Amino acid sequence: MKSKICVVGSSNIDQISYVEKIPGDGETVFGSSYQMGFGGKGANQAIMASLLGAETYMITCLGEDVYADMTIENYKKNNINIDYLQIVPGSSGVAPIWVDESGQNRIIVISGSNDHIDAEKAIQALSEIEDLKIIVGQFEIPLEVTERVFSFAKENNITTILNPAPAKIPSESLLSLTDWFIPNEVEFATISKMDAFIDENLINYGNSLSGNLIVTLGDKGAATIDKDSVIKIPAPSVKAVDTTGAGDAFVGAFAYGLASDLTPQDAIKLAIDRASNSVTKPGTQISYSKQ
Ligand code: RIB
Repeated sequence: MKSKICVVGSSNIDQISYVEKIPGDGETVFGSSYQMGFGGKGANQAIMASLLGAETYMITCLGEDVYADMTIENYKKNNINIDYLQIVPGSSGVAPIWVDESGQNRIIVISGSNDHIDAEKAIQALSEIEDLKIIVGQFEIPLEVTERVFSFAKENNITTILNPAPAKIPSESLLSLTDWFIPNEVEFATISKMDAFIDENLINYGNSLSGNLIVTLGDKGAATIDKDSVIKIPAPSVKAVDTTGAGDAFVGAFAYGLASDLTPQDAIKLAIDRASNSVTKPGTQISYSKQ
């Protein structure tokens, strides 16, 4: 039986400008290139999991526009089950993105239809999907929807992965429904008010959770907690051209690994490998590959 995963989250159209130096206030600069592609943290995670071989469902909400049509085609092309897609009047989500010459990005998300996903419909859909192993959530749809979905997951013995991106403070109840909490180092600092590069902080915060903690650390790899020790898994050294979506590649690959019964550490290694590979190519989902 294939590992079955459902992502409940966002879909965006990414509009990426590549520029040597990000403009300052009142400044106009020439960029070197531009590309439009498929993004949204939820969508990216689903695509990565599907590429690796997971049977992947996407519960997301699109608008009534040409971006929705393109996004539906993209999900179909990537073997993602969108039987439970929601459509609302108005615009789909978009994300203007700037990437500088070091590959670092700045992202603005205009949520559009992502803000209107219906929790009741999502839960009805989840109850119709048999043998679901993992549900993945992020913070680009309303937090209450993710909380209700995770509550359903816990009632039905389904593992939950929460990627708190973009950073917002999660409620205690959402955290208590989360089996794997995966912030990056910036999100960890915002949420815990602590520096992710100090082991004691990771141990203290990790032990305050009912589930497990993994913090992704960019080119330093990732860290997880085993009781009172920090396990660090390094990333290979690569030349980064565009880091957009690397965290999502990590989460999607980790979900696939866990659903395929890899040990958590092996799932993290796979996730680092796929995320590191994605930064060597421009674009979001288009930079993902199976190997
Ligand atoms: O994590 C990268 C993603 O953040 C982009 O695809 C963009 O759409 C925003 O959701």
